[in-house]
Amino acid sequence: MIRSTRRSSAPASNTGSDPVTAAASPDLLSRYGGNLPRYTSYPTAAQFTGHVGPVDADAWLRAVPSGAALSLYLHVPFCDALCLFCGCNTAVMRDPDGRAAYGALLIDELTRVADRLGPGRPVSHVQWGGGTPTTLPADTLRQVMQTVRRLFRVEDGAEIAIELDPRYLPDDYPALLGALGFNRASLGVQDLDPMVQRACGRSQSHAQTADCIRRMRDAGIGSVNVDLIYGLPYQTVDGVGATAASVAALNPDRLAVFGYAHVPWKQRRQVLLPADALPGPADRLAQRARIDAVLRVAGYRAIGLDHYARPADGLARAADAGTLRRNFQGYTVDPATVLVGVGASAISAFAQGLTQNATTAVAYAQMMAGPGRTLPVARGVRRTAGDRLRADVIEALMCNLRADLGEIARRHAARDDCFADAAPALERLAADGFVTLDGQTIRVTEAGRPFLRSVAALFDAYRTPADTTRHAAAI
Ligand SMILES: C[S@@+](CC[C@H](N)C(=O)[O-])C[C@H]1O[C@@H](n2cnc3c(N)ncnc32)[C@H](O)[C@@H]1O
Repeated sequence: MIRSTRRSSAPASNTGSDPVTAAASPDLLSRYGGNLPRYTSYPTAAQFTGHVGPVDADAWLRAVPSGAALSLYLHVPFCDALCLFCGCNTAVMRDPDGRAAYGALLIDELTRVADRLGPGRPVSHVQWGGGTPTTLPADTLRQVMQTVRRLFRVEDGAEIAIELDPRYLPDDYPALLGALGFNRASLGVQDLDPMVQRACGRSQSHAQTADCIRRMRDAGIGSVNVDLIYGLPYQTVDGVGATAASVAALNPDRLAVFGYAHVPWKQRRQVLLPADALPGPADRLAQRARIDAVLRVAGYRAIGLDHYARPADGLARAADAGTLRRNFQGYTVDPATVLVGVGASAISAFAQGLTQNATTAVAYAQMMAGPGRTLPVARGVRRTAGDRLRADVIEALMCNLRADLGEIARRHAARDDCFADAAPALERLAADGFVTLDGQTIRVTEAGRPFLRSVAALFDAYRTPADTTRHAAAI
C-alpha cells in the first residue's frame, strides 16, 4: 500500500530550521498552497449535482435504521448586516413577519422529515447555524424547538448549540436559550483590529464580545466557542496575535481559527474587500502560527485542522480517544452517523449519499410550497462503496492526524494495495516533514498540521489539479 516501510524521521527539507519558516519556503507553498476543499464531507459539496433530489432524500430518510441517533442542523440564512468576508449562505431580512414565516417553514420541514423517519427518533445533537439564528423572533425559536422535542426524542445530555453574532443579541435571547436547554454557543469575532474590521464591514468592540460571553454564562450556557479568522485584509502577525490573546483572556472553552476563504467567484460580496490588502500564503501561514502559539501558551490544545480546546473539554478528550468526528459544522464529538439538515441550503448526510436543500430562502420556500409535501432538496451526490472507504481515510486524517490505511481497507473489504497510487506523494510529504510513514500508517506531524488538507486530498478521487475555482486556498 505505502511502498516505503521505513519510519521517516528527520525531514530532509526541514532539518535545522523551525517548521513555520521552512514551510513558508516558496517551493513548499507552491506545491501545497493550492485550492482545496475543507473536507467537511467526502465526496465534497463540489460533487453535488441535480441528479440527486427529493426522491433520493425521501428513500434515504425512510431507510435510516431504527434506533440510529440523528444529528439535526437548522439553518437560518438571515443576518442583521452582511460581513464582506462571509462565505456562508446569508441574506438580510428585516421584516419580523418574514422571519417568523421562515420559522413556520422550518416547522413544516421538520414534520415532513419526521413523517418519513417515523415518530420519536433519538437525536444526540441539535445545531442552529446561519446566518444568525437569533434573527428569528423569540417565539419562533421557541416554537421550532418545541417541535423538535415533540417529533424527536432529544437524548439526555444531547448537545444543543447555536451560532451568535455578539453585536445583535436580543435582550430576551440569553434567558430563552437557557430555558430551551441550549448548552453551547458559538460567537463570531474574527479580528479585533478596527482597521481590519472596517475593511470587512464588521465593527465589533471587545466589550460587545466580552458582554455576550458573560450573558451566555449568566444564562447557564455551559460552553462558549469563539470563531477567529486569519488572512483577512490588513491583518498582520502581531495583530492576529493580539486578537488571539485578548480573546483567550475571556476564557472561551473552544476556538475555531479559520483561514479566510476568498471565493469571490462564488460569493460576490467578497469583491468589495480590498484584494490588494489580502495577506499572501507565507503571511497567512505566519499568522496561523502566531495564533497557534498564543493559544497554546494560554493553555489550549490544537485539535484537527483549525480548532482549539481546553484539555478538559469534550473536543480535546475526543481527540485523545480517537472519537472526534467531522461534519458540515466542523469538528464534533457527536457520534451520530446520520445528519439531517433543515432550512435553506442545509445539507444532510446519509450512508447512501448527501443532499442539499434549495439554496436561497426564496427557492427553499418555493420548493416547500410545491405539490405533495416533498422534501425541498435541490442537489446532492450518491456515495459509492469506494467513496465510503475514502471518506473514512479522509475523516481519520482530518480528525486524528493519523490513518491506518490497512485497517481502514480491511474494514471496507477493500484490496490491501488500493491506495498504492498515493505512495509517491506520501513519500514527498514525508521528505518535507509533514507526515511520518510507518508501514501502512500515516501520521501527520505538527509541521504538517497546517497542510492537513493537502494530505487528505491525496485520497480524494474527484480532485483534478486544474480544479482551482471551486475551493479556497488551502493555506
Ligand atoms: C456561519 S458564520 C455565522 C457567524 C455569526 N452570524 C456572526 O456573525 O458572528 C460562522 C463562522 O464562519 C466563519 N466564516 C464565514 N465566512 C468565512 C470565510 N469566507 N472564510 C473563513 N471563515 C469564514 C466565521 O468565522 C464565522 O464566525
